[in-house]
Amino acid sequence: MTNNISRIMKFKTTPYHSHLIKDTERLSAFYEGISQYAEDLDYLENEEGLINKVVYDLGCGSGVLTYFAALYFSAVVGFEKDSKIAGYAKENLKDFENVLIVNEDVLKLEGLDKADLIICEMLDTALIDEEEVLALNHFIDFKEDNCTVIPSKVLNYVEPVSMERRNVHWEDDDYHPNYNIIGKSICYSEIDLQSRIDENFEDVLEFAINEDSKFNGIKITTITLIRDNIVCGPTPMFNPPLFIPVDEINCRAGDTVKVKLSYKMGGGIETIKTELI
Ligand SMILES: C[S@@+](CC[C@H](N)C(=O)[O-])C[C@H]1O[C@@H](n2cnc3c(N)ncnc32)[C@H](O)[C@@H]1O
Repeated sequence: MTNNISRIMKFKTTPYHSHLIKDTERLSAFYEGISQYAEDLDYLENEEGLINKVVYDLGCGSGVLTYFAALYFSAVVGFEKDSKIAGYAKENLKDFENVLIVNEDVLKLEGLDKADLIICEMLDTALIDEEEVLALNHFIDFKEDNCTVIPSKVLNYVEPVSMERRNVHWEDDDYHPNYNIIGKSICYSEIDLQSRIDENFEDVLEFAINEDSKFNGIKITTITLIRDNIVCGPTPMFNPPLFIPVDEINCRAGDTVKVKLSYKMGGGIETIKTELI
């Protein structure tokens, strides 16, 4: 990984993609996941030392995950809709004969060959604001029967909070919102990225409040399983905690509060709705 990091640090990128490649927790987890998948298949290596498998990297950005896959597999295609970063990815990976970078919106692609491995890092908290789920659902028809998707799963946790800001917002390196956690965390959803995903989420969440407080929001924390044994995030660049306002009520320690939460994965934060029950 150390040699790979020094190569990646020379990649041409936009400022946003540069932050992504400096997030070493994210990068190491994906590297480990891709290597682990490859190691299980090393008996398929051809005379060039590459495994004969077709890999797609959806939303490849600077090409960093495409690069990891290109170290192992004979045919790796990175798809990227932003022409500037797609151009950089082409340049970053120009030495690899087994790599093709395609500057297209993955949601518009039709008639592709089937892939053995799909890597898709268009993740964001609870999969709401980026196109991970839409892209993976669109690629269902371009998967071999035993196709693996990296990441494997997403787990979403929620906590009741008393928070200062009254709009939907994230926490990141530059912005630390003012809030108190006032009850137990619950794992409210587990999304398996290996098969078709229902884009619409709706459920009633039941919170056990553990202090006298003003309840007026929820905090969502997303944990990604890159493979079933590799856990990643959240990090400031990868699924930072998401805060969602709820109508305010005064609570006592020991109260139970019910909130109906709904959103569309890939639909954006404007699809988020909450209702006190
Ligand atoms: C979170 S970044 C990750 C980039 C890269 N995979 C990495 O791990 O560093 C997501 C990338 O997906 C691209 N993207 C988003 N929607 C897309 C779409 N519909 N088709 C192709 N690329 C898309 C974005 O432009 C962005 O470069």
